[in-house]
Amino acid sequence: MTQLTILRYPDPRLHTLAKPVATVDARLRKLAGDMFETMYEAEGIGLAATQVNVHERLIVIDVSESRDQPLVLINPEILWASAETRIGDEGCLSVPGIYDGVERSTSVKVQALDLDGKLQVHAAEGMLAVCIQHEMDHLIGKVFVEYLSPLKRNRIKTKMLKQKKTKSASP
Ligand code: NI
Repeated sequence: MTQLTILRYPDPRLHTLAKPVATVDARLRKLAGDMFETMYEAEGIGLAATQVNVHERLIVIDVSESRDQPLVLINPEILWASAETRIGDEGCLSVPGIYDGVERSTSVKVQALDLDGKLQVHAAEGMLAVCIQHEMDHLIGKVFVEYLSPLKRNRIKTKMLKQKKTKSASP
């Protein structure tokens, strides 16, 4: 497996609209495997293909503490989202070190293909429901900081660009 490079906000490629996956084949299974490796290495709970610069509707998730409950969502569609919402702190591997409150539905029902190309329906609540909504936003080119005020977002943008400069300046 190969570790992939995660795009960092405000990289404009994070705002690309992902296309549906055409076929669930060996190429896609390899990509999902690489995405899991990348996500586990970065200690994240979810990663969308958009974040590794592949613009197809594919998400990998593992919200378990034991890191052994991988979930793959291919061409995910929300069937139902609860009217009940909650504001919780979110972070993102593309915006390292930043956590802020985002309002999300507390539960969702989502349908998606699995790695065998079979359609599955998942009922999710709690952290998994939040993670699914966060990752699905990536597929439409949306990063969670876009829910924050323009002032906060600009501060984050400045901070990220500064980090990038420091990083590329070091040997
Ligand atoms: Ni994210």
